[in-house]
Amino acid sequence: MRNEMMHRPVLKDEILDLVRNRQRQMDGLLGEIQQQAYTDDVPIIPNETATFLRFFLKQIQAKKVLEIGTAIGFSASLMAQAMGENGHVTTIDRFDVMIRKAKLTFEKMGLTEQITLIEGDAKEVLPTLEDTYDFIFMDSAKSKYIEFLPECLRLLKVNGVIMIDDVFQAGTVMHDVKEVPKSQRTIYRKLNSLYDAVLAHPDLTVTILPLGDGVLMISKDVENIEI
Ligand SMILES: C[S@@+](CC[C@H](N)C(=O)[O-])C[C@H]1O[C@@H](n2cnc3c(N)ncnc32)[C@H](O)[C@@H]1O
Repeated sequence: MRNEMMHRPVLKDEILDLVRNRQRQMDGLLGEIQQQAYTDDVPIIPNETATFLRFFLKQIQAKKVLEIGTAIGFSASLMAQAMGENGHVTTIDRFDVMIRKAKLTFEKMGLTEQITLIEGDAKEVLPTLEDTYDFIFMDSAKSKYIEFLPECLRLLKVNGVIMIDDVFQAGTVMHDVKEVPKSQRTIYRKLNSLYDAVLAHPDLTVTILPLGDGVLMISKDVENIEI
């Protein structure tokens, strides 16, 4: 489960030190979970992405969030805390080891009322969801983002935001395919298909942020999006 790309940052060392280490780490129990995950190399979002997520959810006053990729429940807890008791997070994961750990996290954090954990593959779960969301955080297998995108756009409110984590592959997404190791070509192709699908789309507003291994932010301008 090691997140290799977290160890291949795209920023200069001193800028990385500023955004990752000088920005305050999370407080209290959430902070303990964060530090333990970094020590154990559990692939949770890096501190700069966590800080941004908390800031952003407060600014857009999100109340309903969907997450794909719970892991130990760090980002789901952070988002639930940022929204306060009127907010709700629905989070999906398919890996039993992570599901057990996430349940413990939500109990310890006192967030079981504010977070619904759906166990299963997002590919099967997403088409069954009927609610709409202010914010959707995609943080699962990178090669599946393009596959999950139409369902996520269906579930997103107009002007809502989809945030997709780890979209740079340490910058190799911009390399010529011949320079990319064969083992990474599926991810390379799928991430490039994702960029092709959204960057020039007339009904989406999109921006890319150099947080962690890259974040893609997509907002939908109209109800029905053809992708
Ligand atoms: C990078 S971790 C998520 C970290 C978490 N968002 C955090 O920052 O605290 C990715 C998680 O996505 C889950 N995952 C990957 N593909 C999935 C899929 N198709 N459906 C559901 N979960 C998936 C993995 O089991 C793993 O726990």
